[in-house]
Amino acid sequence: MIMRVFVAGGAGAMGRRLVPQLVARGHQVTATTTSAAKLGVVEQLGAQGVVMDGLDAVSVGEAVGAARPDAIVHQMTALSVAHAGKPDFKHPDRWAAPTIRLRTEGTDHLLAAAEATGVSHVVAQSLATWNAAREGGWVTEDDLLPPEELSEKLRTSAEALRYVEDVVVKAGGAVLRYGPFYGPGATDDQVKLVRRRKFPLVGGGNGYFSWVHLDDAASATVLAVEQKAAGVFNIVDDEPAPVSAWLPYLAACAGAKRPMNIPTWLARLLAGDMAVAMMTEGLGFSNAKAKRELGWQLRYPSWRQGFKEELA
Ligand SMILES: NC(=O)c1ccc[n+]([C@@H]2O[C@H](COP(=O)([O-])OP(=O)(O)OC[C@H]3O[C@@H](n4cnc5c(N)ncnc54)[C@H](OP(=O)(O)O)[C@@H]3O)[C@@H](O)[C@H]2O)c1
Repeated sequence: MIMRVFVAGGAGAMGRRLVPQLVARGHQVTATTTSAAKLGVVEQLGAQGVVMDGLDAVSVGEAVGAARPDAIVHQMTALSVAHAGKPDFKHPDRWAAPTIRLRTEGTDHLLAAAEATGVSHVVAQSLATWNAAREGGWVTEDDLLPPEELSEKLRTSAEALRYVEDVVVKAGGAVLRYGPFYGPGATDDQVKLVRRRKFPLVGGGNGYFSWVHLDDAASATVLAVEQKAAGVFNIVDDEPAPVSAWLPYLAACAGAKRPMNIPTWLARLLAGDMAVAMMTEGLGFSNAKAKRELGWQLRYPSWRQGFKEELA
């Protein structure tokens, strides 16, 4: 069935891969950006472009009201250098503050606009990284760690994720816990650091990453929209891996020297708690539910194949 889909944050790394997939399936897409200069980008992808500030209830209400969509997809974050400056993992609450607002106030504005316009389905972005706990096996959708059990510096970000998950699921929508993205435009900054040997292994690199290629994350999102999926889904590839496995492999694919190894205390001093948590505390997540319930098939089941293709 052809649907009208409203992608809030349609000009970002994720939006640029999602919009063409929706258009290719025949859907009519409205995609938002905060900048009139980027309207051409979303229009080239096949969407109707609209300038919208996700933190302004009136702006959101008008954009959604004009589009009259069947479904809304929330992909608004302000993690890019353009929106938040250089990543500051020492002060994640400060650096991530606009994203935290997009995940709380921005979600409220979208849900209010959905209700006012009679939109019955919302799909929103969440995260699969350090925010879980499990003994043995990969993390399932039920294993999320309560924010109060995280270190103080990570808590505000985790609370915002918990917020978006709670309200969207309560509204009958789907929350997609994406693993760290790679693919066009997603890891350019990290690869630059790897090439300059400025992306070290921390404390042996025992933390896990559950990578996902942007195109696979986008195809899972299309399925969630088309199936009016409800509930939480981990959207990660088949091969969660410790940093000690993927970082040297990424360096080799990028033609860089093997990354250096630095102790945790030094990394904490240089880069802060959030960076250390990402490198040492990340867990492997299971994608079994998304495959089983959405029928999701990955084009890049392993980052091994994906990194090689992206960096060829
Ligand atoms: N998503 C995550 O959780 C996550 C986590 C870690 C790392 N990263 C990395 O961070 C980079 C960014 O990825 P991404 O696709 O999540 O984000 P992105 O490329 O920055 O795209 C975010 C989208 O949200 C929009 N946006 C920002 N502020 C807004 C506001 N106030 N109101 C409405 N829309 C707003 C942006 O608008 P404009 O078009 O105006 O820019 C853009 O369309 C990638 O390299 C990704 O791999 C992402």
